[in-house]
Amino acid sequence: MLTDTHTHLYLNQFDGDRKEVIQRAKDEGVQQFYLPNIDSTTIEGMLQMEKDFPSECHAMMGLHPCSVKEDYQKELATVKEWLGKRPFCAIGEIGIDLYWDKTFFEEQKKALVTQIGWAKELGIPIIIHSRDSTDIIIEIIKKEKDSRLMGIFHCFTGTPEQAQKIIDLDFFMGIGGVVTFKNAGLDKTVADIPLERLVLETDSPYLAPVPKRGKRNESAYIKQIATKLSEAKQVSFEQIAVATTANAKKIFAKNSLPYTTVY
Ligand code: NI
Repeated sequence: MLTDTHTHLYLNQFDGDRKEVIQRAKDEGVQQFYLPNIDSTTIEGMLQMEKDFPSECHAMMGLHPCSVKEDYQKELATVKEWLGKRPFCAIGEIGIDLYWDKTFFEEQKKALVTQIGWAKELGIPIIIHSRDSTDIIIEIIKKEKDSRLMGIFHCFTGTPEQAQKIIDLDFFMGIGGVVTFKNAGLDKTVADIPLERLVLETDSPYLAPVPKRGKRNESAYIKQIATKLSEAKQVSFEQIAVATTANAKKIFAKNSLPYTTVY
């Protein structure tokens, strides 16, 4: 059994064949799908997907750093409102992205720290997007860290030193399609990361693994990622599947209560 800890299957790239995409993934042994939110425009589709596949799909709530603009406080208010309405399995995806645009760096930091605070109050994990910002985020988490704070550095592509710091913070790393890219060198880094700290993800529709690189990604392709990870770590596919699914279960064990009931 495999778990896709990070997939945006609710996006319109899947409007034509969402049911088939889920079925193909299930045929490959992928049984659980965790859906990170992006911003106020994606909530409805995400929650609809969770409704359509209640025993497979689990919604998160959060504001993605690429959607942090002038109106980010309004966006955060929407996130907070939803956290008060119903339980969510995680706050995500949140973080800092300095690859696309640095204009709102300060606002991205503020939005991240605010959402980390909500996760701590609710006792649920955070799912971190850290494109070109891993060291900055590690420092922020160090400062914010307490016994309640844990989660996943999604799409981990960092160095062995960064991996060690993430482990020291009691966090996990999400491994996706990049591990199959020849020039990335990520397979060598993951070889030395304990399996107890890794989970699998596709980030579909983005970052499809080889041999689908550049095409639309989907959760069935977790299989290629797990295969590559088993080669890199020289353990069986079964061991990868069992360990990463157990890790995902542990991370997402607790659904939050609605925010307003927590003080
Ligand atoms: Ni994502």
